[in-house]
Amino acid sequence: MATKVCLITGANNGFGFETSKELARQGITIVMVCRSQKRGETAQQAIYKETSQLPDLLIADLTIQAQVKRVASEFRAKYDRLDILINNAGFAYTPRQETDEGFEKTFALNYLAYVTLTLELIDLLISSSPSRIINTASEAHRWQDISFDNLQGEQDFPAAQFGMPMMYGWTNVHRIMLTHELAHRLDATGVVVNAFCPGFVPVKRSSMPWYLNMLAPLMSLMPSARSTKDVAQDIIRMAVSPELADKTGLYYSSGQLTRSSEQTYDREASTKLWDTTIELLGYERNLLDTVTNVK
Ligand SMILES: NC(=O)c1ccc[n+]([C@@H]2O[C@H](COP(=O)([O-])OP(=O)(O)OC[C@H]3O[C@@H](n4cnc5c(N)ncnc54)[C@H](OP(=O)(O)O)[C@@H]3O)[C@@H](O)[C@H]2O)c1
Repeated sequence: MATKVCLITGANNGFGFETSKELARQGITIVMVCRSQKRGETAQQAIYKETSQLPDLLIADLTIQAQVKRVASEFRAKYDRLDILINNAGFAYTPRQETDEGFEKTFALNYLAYVTLTLELIDLLISSSPSRIINTASEAHRWQDISFDNLQGEQDFPAAQFGMPMMYGWTNVHRIMLTHELAHRLDATGVVVNAFCPGFVPVKRSSMPWYLNMLAPLMSLMPSARSTKDVAQDIIRMAVSPELADKTGLYYSSGQLTRSSEQTYDREASTKLWDTTIELLGYERNLLDTVTNVK
């Protein structure tokens, strides 16, 4: 049997790193997508040291669509199968910033990168099926409804609440709607698509100021805090457990199967978001239909 291949973004830190390590320990070929060569190599070596498995490493700033596409083509040049895609890299940018390609940065990283990486690799996922897509999301999707007139906060950038930019909440609505839409569109292809919120997981982040990073060890003592190891076990279950092989379009929160907000089940809105996104990214409208009909 061919060795399973897993591509995971945001793989060098936190539960992305723990998941990469534990899946590597299970003998799955891990391809880590990281933003920084240095942080990526450090994580790669740490995994090798603990598991004797050397993950592959691809480098991309996933806020940039051209880099998402480049990393997908680098993956395709080396691998002819993809069994597990874990879209995990994310952050909350405030105040509003645009990438050189003209997309709001939180939207570009947390949502558009998920769409493009999935689309660029969907034929491999289908030909490797049964295969699984896992989208990291957040309970922050419950904060606020999205507005199609202000998708990227271009009219009115949502203010931060509870210390967290509301744009982050919106992009998590997008992530879950994407999961539902893909589950629907990929039905009968053997590719399942699920989303999860890890819960509250205090981690040190390269993008955070040192004084906030100093709080992470203290915050991890809070009763509501979850460890990166526990979250990795949740992800691994979604990625490989046989009893979830045919479960699709689901949302887990802190490891528990949960109903996401009502808005995310609005089929009309999910389809509208999908169509709007495809147009924004310049893909053929029927791209997915063409690919899914191949099987
Ligand atoms: N931790 C929580 O409590 C929590 C709760 C709900 C949801 N989440 C979600 O969990 C995921 C992991 O985030 P985290 O908060 O736990 O922090 P984290 O461990 O630092 O993970 C974020 C990962 O994304 C990478 N990344 C950030 N910007 C990137 C970019 N432009 N291009 C490529 N990679 C980039 C980071 O790389 P660098 O190390 O180079 O920055 C890091 O590996 C995110 O999607 C987040 O929305 C986290």
